[in-house]
Amino acid sequence: MGLDRAASIDDLRALARRRIPRFAFDLVDGGAESERNMRRNVEAFKDIQLTPRYMVDVGQIDTGVTLFGKAYAAPFGMAPIGMLNAFWPGADLTLARMCAAENIPYTASSAASTTLERLAEAAGGNGWFQLYVAGDASVTEGLVARAEAAGYDVMMITADVPAAGKRDRDIRNRLAVPFRFTPEVLAQCALHPRWALTSLRHGTPNVANYADLLKSATSYAEVQKTLITPRFTWEDLKRLRERWKGRLLVKGILHPQDAADCADLGCDGIVVSNHGGRQVAFGPPTIETLPAIAHAVGGRMPVLLDSGIRRGADLLRAKALGADFALAGRALAFGVGAGGAAGAQRAMEILKLELERALGQLGVASFGAVDGSVLSPAPLRHDAR
Ligand SMILES: Cc1cc2nc3c(=O)[nH]c(=O)nc-3n(C[C@H](O)[C@H](O)[C@H](O)COP(=O)(O)O)c2cc1C
Repeated sequence: MGLDRAASIDDLRALARRRIPRFAFDLVDGGAESERNMRRNVEAFKDIQLTPRYMVDVGQIDTGVTLFGKAYAAPFGMAPIGMLNAFWPGADLTLARMCAAENIPYTASSAASTTLERLAEAAGGNGWFQLYVAGDASVTEGLVARAEAAGYDVMMITADVPAAGKRDRDIRNRLAVPFRFTPEVLAQCALHPRWALTSLRHGTPNVANYADLLKSATSYAEVQKTLITPRFTWEDLKRLRERWKGRLLVKGILHPQDAADCADLGCDGIVVSNHGGRQVAFGPPTIETLPAIAHAVGGRMPVLLDSGIRRGADLLRAKALGADFALAGRALAFGVGAGGAAGAQRAMEILKLELERALGQLGVASFGAVDGSVLSPAPLRHDAR
């Protein structure tokens, strides 16, 4: 199967799986422990039914959304993904450029394999910055100051990594930082020569924003320890709110009270997220937590959602249940894995065309007009009889 015959994000995942050595594919494809939460994220979306209405003029479909004062072409952006160049060489820049060309947001991860400055440039004004709060306050301040200088005006602080997620696939694959060329890794590379050669050309990926700090790190867990503190609290968030003049989002919210507290503290938005099921296996899928969170926020700030978006219709499901915008992580990453820049483009095209088609089928011409009334079973309007 070639890219042009890939009909869905699942097809792109299958293509990526063939092209990428197992240890690198698992790095992105895997989740925490039993991976129950990761699977449930995707399954829970499928369980939400929307009821089409017909005989509505849907000749002109509008997928645009205005968020934080900027008009975007589609109601989703790229979620922050660390170390993505290990999955496919050059993936960070490829996705940042694709987002700029398609006019959707690109979120540069603190743990990206490309510096935040280069990603800001590639994202051409569509860049958002994701911050991990470090144990050493000067490391955090260094990143915030760099993000400010690079021109980002949206910063997203990730709250859901108080402890590193336990990802069994990575343990089994003996994933190490920097990569160790064990006989097993070499054998996997030999079976994927295109990946291996492209990787050789690009050099070993690292966590570019902290390159100096991490010179002596020998494991992924050690990298996480430097990057992320288990002591990040509401007090720190308050300080960062005062420090950051741009829009401030908190990513990784799952509890309605946490969402309400973010609004009280003056945040500009939240991302309802469970890190794509990479942190805990026991948690709920995000789409199931969304209605109570949207209710608690009560329209005081935009609510974004990620974890499990694989279809255009998932964006409608999220909107119907109270999200203003969504982020896609693996969906776009699988595209790059399946075919570099052309694959990223194909993933974008699949999601956008599915979204447009689903809006038409639903009988709602504009994404902005999707609300809870499309949820199935549709409530009977006795008063309108
Ligand atoms: C390989 C990988 C690395 C990630 N790295 C980060 C990161 O550095 N910062 C962050 O806030 N979230 C990170 N995430 C979580 C994503 O931002 C996002 O929440 C998740 O991918 C959404 O789920 P989905 O992949 O099902 O769309 C990562 C996810 C993956 C798959």
